[in-house]
Amino acid sequence: MPTQFQVIIQENSDLLSEAGATLFAESAEQAVEDKGFFTVALSGGSTPRGMHRRLAEDPFHSGIWWHKTHIFWVDERCVPVEDPASNYGAARKDLINWVPIIKKNVHPMPVHMPPHAGAVHYQREITDFFKTGPAEIPAFDLVLLGIGTDGHTASLFPETPVLREQKQLVSMVKGGSPMVNRLTMTYPVLNQAREVVFLASGTGKAAIVQALIEKKQRTLPALGIRPRSGKLTWLLDRESASLLQKD
Ligand code: 6PG
Repeated sequence: MPTQFQVIIQENSDLLSEAGATLFAESAEQAVEDKGFFTVALSGGSTPRGMHRRLAEDPFHSGIWWHKTHIFWVDERCVPVEDPASNYGAARKDLINWVPIIKKNVHPMPVHMPPHAGAVHYQREITDFFKTGPAEIPAFDLVLLGIGTDGHTASLFPETPVLREQKQLVSMVKGGSPMVNRLTMTYPVLNQAREVVFLASGTGKAAIVQALIEKKQRTLPALGIRPRSGKLTWLLDRESASLLQKD
Protein backbone atom coordinates (compact mmCIF):
# COMPACT_ATOMS: atom_id res chain seq x y z
CA MET A 1 0.00 0.00 0.00
CA PRO A 2 1.56 3.36 -0.86
CA THR A 3 2.48 5.53 2.13
CA GLN A 4 0.12 8.16 0.80
CA PHE A 5 -3.53 7.23 1.14
CA GLN A 6 -6.42 8.78 3.00
CA VAL A 7 -9.14 7.09 5.03
CA ILE A 8 -12.54 8.78 5.20
CA ILE A 9 -15.07 7.32 7.63
CA GLN A 10 -18.75 8.14 7.30
CA GLU A 11 -21.34 7.46 10.01
CA ASN A 12 -23.40 5.02 7.94
CA SER A 13 -23.85 3.54 4.46
CA ASP A 14 -26.15 6.35 3.27
CA LEU A 15 -23.55 8.96 4.16
CA LEU A 16 -20.89 6.76 2.54
CA SER A 17 -22.95 6.82 -0.68
CA GLU A 18 -23.31 10.60 -0.39
CA ALA A 19 -19.56 10.99 0.15
CA GLY A 20 -18.82 8.70 -2.80
CA ALA A 21 -21.10 10.74 -5.04
CA THR A 22 -19.40 13.92 -3.87
CA LEU A 23 -15.93 12.47 -4.64
CA PHE A 24 -17.25 11.45 -8.09
CA ALA A 25 -18.59 14.97 -8.72
CA GLU A 26 -15.36 16.63 -7.57
CA SER A 27 -13.26 14.34 -9.76
CA ALA A 28 -15.55 15.07 -12.72
CA GLU A 29 -15.40 18.83 -12.12
CA GLN A 30 -11.58 18.78 -12.00
CA ALA A 31 -11.25 16.58 -15.10
CA VAL A 32 -13.64 18.69 -17.19
CA GLU A 33 -11.81 21.84 -16.07
CA ASP A 34 -8.42 20.30 -16.93
CA LYS A 35 -9.22 18.65 -20.27
CA GLY A 36 -12.88 19.00 -21.15
CA PHE A 37 -14.07 15.49 -20.31
CA PHE A 38 -14.19 12.97 -17.44
CA THR A 39 -13.38 9.25 -17.52
CA VAL A 40 -14.48 6.91 -14.75
CA ALA A 41 -14.42 3.13 -14.27
CA LEU A 42 -17.13 1.66 -12.06
CA SER A 43 -17.06 -1.56 -10.06
CA GLY A 44 -19.96 -3.89 -9.47
CA GLY A 45 -21.27 -5.66 -6.41
CA SER A 46 -23.71 -4.22 -3.91
CA THR A 47 -21.62 -1.55 -2.15
CA PRO A 48 -21.58 1.09 -4.90
CA ARG A 49 -25.29 0.80 -5.77
CA GLY A 50 -26.34 3.37 -3.19
CA MET A 51 -23.77 5.80 -4.59
CA HIS A 52 -24.95 5.15 -8.16
CA ARG A 53 -28.55 5.84 -7.13
CA ARG A 54 -27.46 9.01 -5.28
CA LEU A 55 -25.63 10.26 -8.38
CA ALA A 56 -28.92 10.06 -10.28
CA GLU A 57 -30.47 12.58 -7.88
CA ASP A 58 -29.81 16.29 -7.36
CA PRO A 59 -27.48 17.98 -6.74
CA PHE A 60 -25.46 15.43 -8.74
CA HIS A 61 -28.04 14.86 -11.49
CA SER A 62 -27.94 18.53 -12.45
CA GLY A 63 -24.46 19.38 -11.17
CA ILE A 64 -22.28 16.88 -13.05
CA TRP A 65 -21.22 17.35 -16.71
CA TRP A 66 -22.91 14.08 -17.75
CA HIS A 67 -22.54 14.89 -21.47
CA LYS A 68 -18.78 15.16 -20.90
CA THR A 69 -18.61 11.94 -18.85
CA HIS A 70 -17.35 8.58 -20.16
CA ILE A 71 -18.20 5.53 -18.08
CA PHE A 72 -16.25 2.26 -18.30
CA TRP A 73 -16.34 -0.83 -16.07
CA VAL A 74 -13.57 -2.20 -13.86
CA ASP A 75 -14.96 -5.69 -14.27
CA GLU A 76 -18.01 -7.59 -15.42
CA ARG A 77 -19.55 -10.98 -15.04
CA CYS A 78 -20.07 -12.69 -18.42
CA VAL A 79 -23.83 -12.89 -18.07
CA PRO A 80 -26.68 -11.21 -19.99
CA VAL A 81 -27.35 -7.60 -19.01
CA GLU A 82 -30.78 -8.63 -17.68
CA ASP A 83 -29.11 -11.06 -15.24
CA PRO A 84 -29.15 -9.65 -11.66
CA ALA A 85 -25.40 -10.47 -11.53
CA SER A 86 -24.62 -8.01 -14.36
CA ASN A 87 -22.62 -5.02 -13.12
CA TYR A 88 -23.64 -2.98 -16.15
CA GLY A 89 -27.25 -4.09 -15.72
CA ALA A 90 -27.27 -2.85 -12.12
CA ALA A 91 -25.59 0.45 -13.00
CA ARG A 92 -28.02 0.97 -15.87
CA LYS A 93 -30.96 0.51 -13.48
CA ASP A 94 -29.46 2.70 -10.75
CA LEU A 95 -27.71 5.45 -12.72
CA ILE A 96 -27.33 5.27 -16.51
CA ASN A 97 -31.08 5.32 -17.26
CA TRP A 98 -31.57 8.40 -15.09
CA VAL A 99 -28.83 10.83 -16.17
CA PRO A 100 -28.32 12.69 -19.48
CA ILE A 101 -25.18 10.74 -20.42
CA ILE A 102 -24.60 10.19 -24.13
CA LYS A 103 -25.11 6.49 -25.00
CA LYS A 104 -21.85 6.24 -26.97
CA ASN A 105 -20.01 7.46 -23.86
CA VAL A 106 -21.17 4.42 -21.87
CA HIS A 107 -18.75 1.52 -22.38
CA PRO A 108 -20.09 -1.76 -20.97
CA MET A 109 -17.75 -4.72 -21.16
CA PRO A 110 -18.66 -7.06 -24.10
CA VAL A 111 -20.25 -10.11 -22.51
CA HIS A 112 -21.90 -11.29 -25.73
CA MET A 113 -18.66 -12.70 -27.16
CA PRO A 114 -16.27 -15.44 -25.92
CA PRO A 115 -14.48 -14.05 -22.81
CA HIS A 116 -10.95 -14.06 -24.25
CA ALA A 117 -12.16 -12.16 -27.31
CA GLY A 118 -14.12 -9.86 -25.03
CA ALA A 119 -10.97 -8.97 -23.10
CA VAL A 120 -9.10 -8.14 -26.32
CA HIS A 121 -12.08 -6.15 -27.60
CA TYR A 122 -12.44 -4.09 -24.42
CA GLN A 123 -8.71 -3.39 -24.22
CA ARG A 124 -8.94 -2.06 -27.78
CA GLU A 125 -12.00 0.02 -26.83
CA ILE A 126 -10.03 1.60 -23.98
CA THR A 127 -6.86 2.26 -25.98
CA ASP A 128 -8.83 3.61 -28.95
CA PHE A 129 -10.69 5.99 -26.65
CA PHE A 130 -7.55 7.20 -24.89
CA LYS A 131 -5.58 7.13 -28.17
CA THR A 132 -2.70 5.42 -26.37
CA GLY A 133 0.00 3.47 -28.18
CA PRO A 134 1.34 0.05 -27.09
CA ALA A 135 3.89 1.60 -24.73
CA GLU A 136 1.47 3.96 -22.99
CA ILE A 137 -1.10 3.03 -20.33
CA PRO A 138 -4.45 4.87 -20.33
CA ALA A 139 -5.07 6.97 -17.20
CA PHE A 140 -8.65 7.08 -15.96
CA ASP A 141 -9.56 10.15 -13.94
CA LEU A 142 -11.36 8.01 -11.37
CA VAL A 143 -11.52 4.29 -10.59
CA LEU A 144 -14.07 3.13 -8.03
CA LEU A 145 -13.30 -0.21 -6.40
CA GLY A 146 -15.00 -2.54 -3.95
CA ILE A 147 -13.36 -5.09 -1.71
CA GLY A 148 -14.25 -8.72 -1.15
CA THR A 149 -13.86 -10.42 2.25
CA ASP A 150 -11.05 -12.47 0.68
CA GLY A 151 -9.18 -9.29 -0.21
CA HIS A 152 -10.07 -9.33 -3.90
CA THR A 153 -10.87 -6.18 -5.79
CA ALA A 154 -12.21 -5.87 -9.31
CA SER A 155 -12.08 -9.53 -10.36
CA LEU A 156 -8.52 -9.89 -9.13
CA PHE A 157 -9.01 -12.92 -6.93
CA PRO A 158 -6.38 -14.39 -4.57
CA GLU A 159 -3.78 -16.76 -6.06
CA THR A 160 -4.89 -16.30 -9.66
CA PRO A 161 -2.60 -15.73 -12.65
CA VAL A 162 -4.17 -12.35 -13.46
CA LEU A 163 -2.38 -10.92 -10.40
CA ARG A 164 0.88 -11.34 -12.32
CA GLU A 165 -0.43 -9.67 -15.49
CA GLN A 166 1.75 -6.67 -16.27
CA LYS A 167 1.03 -6.15 -20.00
CA GLN A 168 -2.66 -6.71 -20.80
CA LEU A 169 -5.04 -4.04 -19.51
CA VAL A 170 -8.04 -6.36 -19.52
CA SER A 171 -8.07 -10.08 -18.78
CA MET A 172 -10.57 -12.92 -18.67
CA VAL A 173 -10.83 -14.73 -15.34
CA LYS A 174 -13.18 -17.24 -13.71
CA GLY A 175 -14.07 -16.86 -10.08
CA GLY A 176 -15.94 -15.01 -7.40
CA SER A 177 -19.56 -15.26 -6.43
CA PRO A 178 -21.29 -16.04 -8.69
CA MET A 179 -18.55 -18.34 -10.01
CA VAL A 180 -18.71 -17.27 -13.65
CA ASN A 181 -16.38 -16.11 -16.41
CA ARG A 182 -15.49 -12.49 -15.88
CA LEU A 183 -13.62 -9.69 -17.59
CA THR A 184 -11.45 -7.49 -15.38
CA MET A 185 -9.13 -4.55 -15.67
CA THR A 186 -5.65 -5.45 -14.44
CA TYR A 187 -3.18 -3.73 -12.12
CA PRO A 188 -1.34 -1.82 -14.89
CA VAL A 189 -4.39 0.23 -15.87
CA LEU A 190 -5.93 0.42 -12.39
CA ASN A 191 -2.67 1.78 -10.97
CA GLN A 192 -2.40 4.37 -13.74
CA ALA A 193 -5.56 6.16 -12.59
CA ARG A 194 -5.39 9.72 -11.31
CA GLU A 195 -7.60 8.75 -8.41
CA VAL A 196 -8.63 5.39 -6.92
CA VAL A 197 -11.35 5.11 -4.31
CA PHE A 198 -12.14 1.92 -2.39
CA LEU A 199 -15.66 1.77 -0.97
CA ALA A 200 -16.38 -0.63 1.88
CA SER A 201 -19.48 -0.75 4.04
CA GLY A 202 -20.76 -2.91 6.90
CA THR A 203 -19.32 -5.04 9.70
CA GLY A 204 -18.75 -7.88 7.22
CA LYS A 205 -15.88 -5.90 5.71
CA ALA A 206 -14.28 -4.76 9.01
CA ALA A 207 -11.75 -7.62 9.20
CA ILE A 208 -10.55 -7.31 5.62
CA VAL A 209 -10.37 -3.52 5.86
CA GLN A 210 -8.18 -3.87 8.96
CA ALA A 211 -6.03 -6.52 7.24
CA LEU A 212 -5.48 -4.25 4.26
CA ILE A 213 -5.02 -0.90 5.96
CA GLU A 214 -3.24 -1.93 9.15
CA LYS A 215 -1.79 -5.41 8.78
CA LYS A 216 -0.89 -4.89 5.14
CA GLN A 217 -1.06 -8.62 4.35
CA ARG A 218 0.80 -8.54 1.05
CA THR A 219 -0.92 -11.67 -0.33
CA LEU A 220 -4.22 -9.81 -0.53
CA PRO A 221 -4.93 -8.70 -4.13
CA ALA A 222 -6.29 -5.29 -3.09
CA LEU A 223 -2.80 -4.45 -1.81
CA GLY A 224 -1.65 -4.55 -5.42
CA ILE A 225 -3.62 -1.33 -5.94
CA ARG A 226 -0.76 1.17 -5.59
CA PRO A 227 -1.46 4.13 -7.88
CA ARG A 228 1.78 5.21 -9.59
CA SER A 229 1.06 8.88 -9.08
CA GLY A 230 -2.66 8.95 -8.39
CA LYS A 231 -4.52 9.56 -5.16
CA LEU A 232 -5.78 6.59 -3.12
CA THR A 233 -8.75 6.90 -0.78
CA TRP A 234 -10.51 4.40 1.45
CA LEU A 235 -14.12 5.47 1.88
CA LEU A 236 -15.59 3.53 4.81
CA ASP A 237 -18.50 3.65 7.17
CA ARG A 238 -18.30 3.23 10.95
CA GLU A 239 -19.03 -0.49 10.65
CA SER A 240 -16.42 -1.36 8.04
CA ALA A 241 -13.89 0.83 9.91
CA SER A 242 -14.77 -0.63 13.33
CA LEU A 243 -11.55 -2.68 13.75
CA LEU A 244 -9.18 0.12 12.77
CA GLN A 245 -7.00 1.68 15.50
CA LYS A 246 -8.74 4.70 16.91
CA ASP A 247 -5.98 7.27 16.47
C1 6PG B 1 -17.61 -7.61 -8.78
C2 6PG B 1 -16.93 -6.43 -8.14
C3 6PG B 1 -16.18 -6.90 -6.94
C4 6PG B 1 -16.87 -6.25 -5.76
C5 6PG B 1 -16.51 -6.93 -4.47
C6 6PG B 1 -17.36 -6.37 -3.33
O1 6PG B 1 -17.90 -7.54 -9.97
O2 6PG B 1 -17.90 -8.55 -8.05
O3 6PG B 1 -16.27 -5.64 -8.94
O4 6PG B 1 -14.83 -6.61 -6.92
O5 6PG B 1 -16.48 -4.88 -5.72
O6 6PG B 1 -16.76 -8.31 -4.63
O7 6PG B 1 -18.71 -6.68 -3.60
P1 6PG B 1 -19.86 -6.14 -2.61
O8 6PG B 1 -19.86 -4.66 -2.78
O9 6PG B 1 -21.12 -6.79 -3.14
O10 6PG B 1 -19.49 -6.58 -1.23
